[in-house]
Amino acid sequence: MGNTVRGSFLPADPNDEPIIRPRDSPWKQEATLSVIVLKKSDIPDNGAIVVPASAWLKIAVFRVGDRLAAIDNRCPHAGYDLWDQEGGDFNGTTIRCIWHGFKIDIWKGKGQDGTPHPTFPVTLVGDEVHLVVPDDI
Ligand code: FES
Repeated sequence: MGNTVRGSFLPADPNDEPIIRPRDSPWKQEATLSVIVLKKSDIPDNGAIVVPASAWLKIAVFRVGDRLAAIDNRCPHAGYDLWDQEGGDFNGTTIRCIWHGFKIDIWKGKGQDGTPHPTFPVTLVGDEVHLVVPDDI
């Protein structure tokens, strides 16, 4: 999987959206951040990989061509994985939980009922994917 680069990073502007739009706001102005570096080729086109970011947080990093999105991999309905070893029900925009059908727009970071779903900054730098996560989550 990827390498973790530790360091103290601050968002350019902590008031900027959408650095993270969490339900329970792990993002703090003084948070230290880690950049998890992945290879673009690790992520299937029109698919995702799951990155364990902490003991309880797994992040699904989706790629559609050169477009990336990173979201909390837990389904907000009952907490099952949205993306697992078998993959997921993804149409390029929406991940549909295979358990009971809840849908999340990965680009908007919103569930089908309009509730925000946690997202994380992710960018393509050459052939590397840089995923930014707060350290204290
Ligand atoms: S756990 Fe995902 S829809 Fe129920």
